[in-house]
Parts: sequence; C-alpha cells; structure tokens
Amino acid sequence: MKIRVLGAAAGGGFPQWNCNAPLSRAVRQNRPGFLARTQSSIAASADGRSWAVFNASPDIREQIAATPELQPSADAPLRSTPIKAVVLTNADVDHIAGLLSLREREPFTLYATRRVLDTLAANSIFQVLNPDYVERRELALEGETELHGPEGALGLSIETFSVPGKVALFLEDPEKKDFGTSGGDTIGLAIRRSAHAGQPHKTLFYVPGCAAIETAFKERISGGSCLMFDGTVFENDEMARTGVGSKTGARMGHLAMSGPDGSLAGLADVDLQRRIFIHINNTNPVLDPHSGEASAVRAAGWEIAFDGMELEL
Ligand code: MLT
Ligand code: MN
Repeated sequence: MKIRVLGAAAGGGFPQWNCNAPLSRAVRQNRPGFLARTQSSIAASADGRSWAVFNASPDIREQIAATPELQPSADAPLRSTPIKAVVLTNADVDHIAGLLSLREREPFTLYATRRVLDTLAANSIFQVLNPDYVERRELALEGETELHGPEGALGLSIETFSVPGKVALFLEDPEKKDFGTSGGDTIGLAIRRSAHAGQPHKTLFYVPGCAAIETAFKERISGGSCLMFDGTVFENDEMARTGVGSKTGARMGHLAMSGPDGSLAGLADVDLQRRIFIHINNTNPVLDPHSGEASAVRAAGWEIAFDGMELEL
C-alpha cells in the first residue's frame, strides 16, 4: 500500500495566511529546516493507479498539483482523475472545504459518517457535487468497509472507529453540553489493503483529530505498522502562551503532545512500528526542527509529518 501525505498542517496551514508569529515568519523567510505545510490530508493506493483521498483539504488543488500520482495520466480520457474515493474523518473546514474543488462532473465515491453526511446535506453549496457523479456512502461508527470507486473496488479497506473529539467549530451550539458533540463527529480509521490470502495485514491508523487516549484505542492500534496521530499542539495552552489566541487544544478537541495525559506519554507503551504526528498547528514548536520540543518528540520515537512524505506499507 502506498501512502502520500498531501497536507501535514492543521486548519490554517503553515504559514497561516494571517499569522505573524515567529514560526509562521520563519517559514515565510525560508529559514533553514522550516517547511511550509498545507492543510490536513493524506492519500492511499493499493495499486499505485487508483487512489483514495482521506479528508478534502482547502488546499487540495495545490496538493494535486504537487502529486503526479493524483493527476490525470497521459493515456487517460480528456476528463479523468485517479482519485476514486474521498473519505472524511470529521466535518471540520480543513477536511471538507476541498470537496468544492472536486466539482467538475467527475465521478468518485464520498464516504463519511451519518453526522458528517448530514452536515454536507444541510449546506447547499455542497450540491456542487452532483449526485449523478458523486455517490455519498455512509460509514458505520464501527466496522470494516471495502472502498469502492465508480468503476469498482479499490483494493483498500478501512475500519472505522469513534474517537473522542468535538463537533466542527462552525456547528458548535454554546447552549449544549460539549457544544452539541455527538457520535460520528470524529472518527479514526485503520487503512489497509484488502485481504489477500497469505499476506500479512499492514495497517495504517489515521487519527488526525483525537481529544483523549482511551484504553480500547491503545489496544486497537497495538501492533500496527504505522500510526498517524493528532499533532495539533505541543502544549495544551500553547495558543495563549504564544499570544495568538486563547483556545486550548482541549477546547478544540485536540490532545496535546506533552504532559502526563498527553499523546507522548499516553502512547509511549504501545507497540507500533512507526508513529508520526500529523495535523500540526502553526503554533506547535515541533515545526522548528531545532527546537527542544522537536528533539523531545524525535527522541520519543515520533516522526513529524511533512507534505510529500511517502510511505510504503
Ligand atoms: C480543528 O482541527 O480543530 C479545526 O480544523 C479548526 C478549524 O476549523 O480551523
Ligand atoms: Mn483540523
């Protein structure tokens, strides 16, 4: 299975258009070691020809331009795409806005939970995805799904599971408990090639948003080939510390890397071949490869995702 990181940053990207904090300034100035990152998305393929995209980032047009595998091949019809399916893990703007760029009467299959499909259905702008071309399929909150494109199975299967999270920012209801968060707002995925006799399962766990580490989650991912996990913030109160805002990671539905309940400590004893932080906010000091935080993360065995990162599982 081939994996491409299309966008390693969280919502806003790196640099964020209106951010003048030192990290965003450093990447704008091309300081050594600083890499610009687009917003949150990965792609996977079993055969290298047909691809599933996981989360449709507002930057998808630029991401396709940077990824030849996702462009029409030379011998393909005049209008075509290797992107046969799009799978959403929540309804956040950084994960759905790219759907609007995939509108040119091109067939693909769109997978999401009922909660996320209802959000798309309630926003008439998503009718630009003509149902004659884009089939919307519901993902169960638990279970295995064979991914299909318009011409058939992609040879990829996904296992869906709920993770602690939060309803999308633009859907928050301040009157309601947890701002109206409910089941299906945030899922994680196990992505693997469809079962082949005698072949070991190599699994990528893709969890770009997660608010807490639960025991059942640790058991589920244990033994996995690779985990790509929510790397939004290093410190829970990092937005306040850096002076750019007041929201904590927890308030945004994102578990911090550091601290006794953070992801570094919480996942330290889990058996994984690779562990990679993804969905990294522009305030996170790990974006400076020379920072103490980046060193600490690397010393704990984690990699920090970047756009164009390739994995072969
Ligand atoms: C998040 O991951 O918390 C969201 O993408 C924030 C946002 O809507 O920009
Ligand atoms: Mn996000």
